[in-house]
Amino acid sequence: MHEKKKNTDQAASLRMVAGKQLLQSNGPRIVTVTSGKGGVGKSIFTVNLAMILADLNRRVLLFDADTNLANLDSLLGVSPKYRLGDVLRGEKDISEVLLNPCPHLHVLPGDSGDYYYPKYDSRVQDHIIESIVMSDNSYDLFIVDTAAGISPEVIHYSILSDETIVIANPEPTAILDAYAVIKMIWLKKKRHIFKLVINQARNASEAEDAATKLKMAAEHFLKITLQYIGHLPYDKRVKESVMRQNPVVRMFPKSGFTESLKTIARNGVIQTEQYVERRVVTV
Ligand SMILES: Nc1ncnc2c1ncn2[C@@H]1O[C@H](COP(=O)(O)OP(=O)(O)O)[C@@H](O)[C@H]1O
Ligand SMILES: [Mg+2]
Repeated sequence: MHEKKKNTDQAASLRMVAGKQLLQSNGPRIVTVTSGKGGVGKSIFTVNLAMILADLNRRVLLFDADTNLANLDSLLGVSPKYRLGDVLRGEKDISEVLLNPCPHLHVLPGDSGDYYYPKYDSRVQDHIIESIVMSDNSYDLFIVDTAAGISPEVIHYSILSDETIVIANPEPTAILDAYAVIKMIWLKKKRHIFKLVINQARNASEAEDAATKLKMAAEHFLKITLQYIGHLPYDKRVKESVMRQNPVVRMFPKSGFTESLKTIARNGVIQTEQYVERRVVTV
């Protein structure tokens, strides 16, 4: 009874959805990964980042939010018995569908090509995030791997997050799409932390050139500062790891890709932990 009352109070303080005011309590830090363009490496980045953070003793929940085209379980080489769709249909609790591929890491698997996939809207998204934040598992980080594009669903995950990591590669089309997604988030939420990772770069200077273009556009047109937190090299072994269904950080722990990712995890995610203040976010 007392516990129920506590949860109700927490829920009330957590969010007043009607007024679109979100008060994030002392739950996990919510990080959304997005890109605009598909195929730039969001899922590769999130899976490997989550594993590194788990190795560094952070309790991580990784959510495959690519609606009905989920693939994190394939990248991890696991076959979930139940998925998010089972939760949304009310047949399973979130805790029953979570995967545990390594210590400190839980994965909430999404669905792929489920004909009966439940209708999905922002209220469902609010509900998923709330359920995680309110869950008994005390996660440090809740990482959301989104679908490609700038659909309201993708933007809404960023709105509910403490920060967004935008992934682009050095191609002008990827930079343009990354700018578009940043702008769409900014139109809905003016105060937000944007971080930038350039993937598939031939070298650091190519990545820096791409990052500078994006940073300058965001500063000039939107008056926001993107924090460039690093780049990942183009590496043929990434494809090999996808084929083998074994994340790069496990299959090639000494590779340049893994080293770069460790730097991003330490400098771009862990180092900024102390700066995350729980705050009221007006949406
Ligand atoms: N750093 C990289 N080096 C080489 N290939 C990469 C790299 N990152 C991603 N890829 C390739 O791009 C493909 C798409 O990546 P993925 O993470 O699924 O993209 P997204 O989630 O953004 O749609 C991967 O299957 C892999 O073959
Ligand atoms: Mg993906």
